[in-house]
Amino acid sequence: MIKKDFISIRDFSPSDILYLLILARQIKAHPLSYCDALKRETLAMIFEKPSLRTRVSFDVGIQQLGGFSLYLSPQEINLGKRESVYDVAKNLERMVQGIMIRTFAHETVEQMAKYVCIPVINGLTDYSHPCQAMADYLTMWEAKGDLEGLKVAFVGDGNNVANSLMFAGAQLGAHVWVATPENHTPRAEAVEWARVRSMETGGSCNLTNDPREAVDGADVVYTDVWTSMGQEAEAEKRDEEFHFYQVNMPLFRRAKRDAIFLHCLPAHRGKEVTNEVIDSPQSLVFQQAENRLHAQKAIMLELMKSEFVKLPTLVELQEMVHP
Ligand code: CP
Ligand code: NVA
Repeated sequence: MIKKDFISIRDFSPSDILYLLILARQIKAHPLSYCDALKRETLAMIFEKPSLRTRVSFDVGIQQLGGFSLYLSPQEINLGKRESVYDVAKNLERMVQGIMIRTFAHETVEQMAKYVCIPVINGLTDYSHPCQAMADYLTMWEAKGDLEGLKVAFVGDGNNVANSLMFAGAQLGAHVWVATPENHTPRAEAVEWARVRSMETGGSCNLTNDPREAVDGADVVYTDVWTSMGQEAEAEKRDEEFHFYQVNMPLFRRAKRDAIFLHCLPAHRGKEVTNEVIDSPQSLVFQQAENRLHAQKAIMLELMKSEFVKLPTLVELQEMVHP
């Protein structure tokens, strides 16, 4: 893999994405084998939005690999106001070995990566959430044994999480269905990219306004909040617009009998999902949250390792997983 940064699932080949997922499974199964792999390396974590899972999983993840993390809050950095993105990036580059950033504009992450030689990892932008998608497909793989040909239904807002789910699904040969209200579809260029990549991998990317069409016969039913961070002023209007897109038991029952339910969390119980669904035995939301840790350890390891750390190749990993 020759990438310096982890900014979008789109930047990688299907075999790169598969490699990171297999590495994540290997790390999850044998965490102690990697406990010194990033010894004394430091990850700066820039947060311009709140977080529970991203902050904890990166923090714990880098420590489990032998390194350290630094949490930089919005107040501390005040990115672009107290100091330009360029100056923040150039300072950090002199002191740490990697940057994880959660911000608003996707371009901020791209700019930062361009300015520095150290790896930059996207911890969520208004456009995408690639680390989430890696944990999502890791969870699907664990639950379903295979990813190719899975029907994955995303119901709700065509947001950052939906985009990354489409991109990763296209890379891995899944059939992704996204059901949204008419004026909340994912961006046309994102759908177009997923459709073109799906043609190479045997998957597909499908849009509908009818949640029932998306969920019918699905292997995975996925939803996210109707109001993302930064859209709080629209919350009331959105609650009305998305009313028909709640994942409740009558909708979930249209999926396959052994379908799983996923949610990136935080969840607004009683809005996009009912307690009955999120607390059902078919809901894997906490396994999915845990998988953020393993998926991101694979990403950090691949991007931040020194020349002295040798990771197994894809073929070697495949033999370890299926001897
Ligand atoms: N799913 C997710 O990214 O959670 P946080 O916003 O808590 O980090
Ligand atoms: N779409 C949500 C995801 C949170 C993890 C948001 O951006 O707020």
